[in-house]
Amino acid sequence: MLGNFSYCNPTKLYFGADSLHYLNDELPKYGKNVVLVYGGGSIKKNGIYDKVVEILKANDKNVAEIAGVMPNPTIDKLYEGIEIARAHRADFLLAVGGGSVCDYTKALSVSVHCDEDPWDKYYIRFEEPTCETLPVGCVLTMVGTGSEMNAGAVITNPKAKLKIGHVFADEKVMPRFSILDPAYTLTLPHYQMVAGIYDIFNHICEQYFSGEDDNTSDYLAEGLMRSLLHSSRIANKDMQNYEARSNIMWTATWALNTLIACGKSTDWEVHMLGQAVGAYTDATHGMTLSAVSLAYYRHILPYGLKKFVRFAVNVWGVDPAGKTDEQVAQEGLAAMESWMKELGLAMNITELGADAGMIEGLADATLIMQGGYKVLDRSEIVEIFQESL
Ligand code: NZQ
Ligand code: ZN
Repeated sequence: MLGNFSYCNPTKLYFGADSLHYLNDELPKYGKNVVLVYGGGSIKKNGIYDKVVEILKANDKNVAEIAGVMPNPTIDKLYEGIEIARAHRADFLLAVGGGSVCDYTKALSVSVHCDEDPWDKYYIRFEEPTCETLPVGCVLTMVGTGSEMNAGAVITNPKAKLKIGHVFADEKVMPRFSILDPAYTLTLPHYQMVAGIYDIFNHICEQYFSGEDDNTSDYLAEGLMRSLLHSSRIANKDMQNYEARSNIMWTATWALNTLIACGKSTDWEVHMLGQAVGAYTDATHGMTLSAVSLAYYRHILPYGLKKFVRFAVNVWGVDPAGKTDEQVAQEGLAAMESWMKELGLAMNITELGADAGMIEGLADATLIMQGGYKVLDRSEIVEIFQESL
C-alpha cells in the first residue's frame, strides 16, 4: 500500500429479502415533493412500482414521475427530467431501477438547480456541482454498475457520439440510501444478468491491473473475483438461485463503491473503449466491455506481466509449475475467455453492431487513461478495436 487516501462512503444500505419496507424509515427524513424516476416499464410488470407507490402514499408524499429512462440515458432525457423536477419543486429524488436509472437520477440531482448546461459543465469540463444538489435514494433492480453506492453518473450524448461518465468527488452526489433486495433481480433476462456479471468483473479488473506494490486492495479484489466466478456459474445454470444472486448483488456493490481503489492507481481503459462502442451502438454496457476486453488485456499483458501471472494463479487456479511467466499469464486469460463464453457474453464488437468503418470514430471517442500498465497511443486503440471486430 503506497498511496495515501481518505475513505468515506456515506450511502446507507438495506440489503436482503423484503428490505423495501425500510423506505418507510428513510422517507420521513426528506421533504414532501418526491420525484420517482424509473425505466422502460420492467418495474410495472414485476410489481415493484405498485409496492413503491403504496409506500410513498402511506408517507403522504406528493409524487411526480419521470418514466422511460432508457439504458444508456441520454442528455435530452436529462433536460426533460430537469423541467419535471423544477416544476414539481422537488425535495427528494427516488430512483427505482438499474444503473441507468440511478446514474440518471444522480445527474438530475446536480442539474435541477444548476444554471449552466449540465453536459458542458459536468461531462465536458468535469466540474463539481456549485449549486444545491437534491438528495437521492435508490431501489436497485439490476445488478452490475455499483451505482447504488458510488458517485458515478454516465450520460450519453447521441448527437456528439459521446458516452461519458463523471465520478463526482462531492459525496453529496452518492445515494443517501440504497435498498438492495436480491429477489428484485430475479426477473432480469439472462442477457442482462450476464452483462451485469461481466460489468462487475471488469470493475474489479480495472482497479486490479495497475501498480507494482503489495496492496491490500488487490487481495480484496481477488476474493471478490473468486466469489463472483463461483456464483456466476451457479446463476448461469439456475437463474432463480437466490443465494448465488444475492452474492452477485453484494459483490457488485463492493466492486465499485470506492473501497478497492484505495491506495492505488486504477486503469479504466476497458471502460473507455466500451463507452465509445456504447456511444456508437447503444449496446448493453457490460457487453461493450466483454467485446473489447480480451484484445485489450492481451495487448497490455507484457507491460504488467507479474500481475497477469498473479491473476492466473490466484483467480483462475492456473498451476505455474514448469511454465514460463508468459505461459501462465496467457493461460489465465484463456481461462477467463472460456468463462466468458460459458456465460454467453458478447465476444466481439461486430455482434453489437459496430463495423470496420466506425473504427476511426470509435478511436476518437475513446479517452486515454493514465493509470494502467500501458498508456495507449491512438494507433494502439485502433489496433485493439480492429482485433475486437
Ligand atoms: O428500463 P426497464 O424497463 O426497467 O428495463 C431495464 C433495462 O432494459 C432492465 N431491467 C432492470 N431491472 C430489471 C430489468 N428487467 C427485468 N427485471 C428487472 N428487475 O434491464 C435493462 C438494463 O438496465 P440498465 O439500468 O441500463 O442496466 P445497468 O444496471 O447495467 O446500467 C447501465 C448504465 O450504467 C452505466 C452504464 O454506462 C450504463 O449507462 N454505468 C454506471 C456506473 C457507475 N455509476 O459507476 C459504472 C458502470 O461502469 C457503468 O458505466
Ligand atoms: Zn461498468
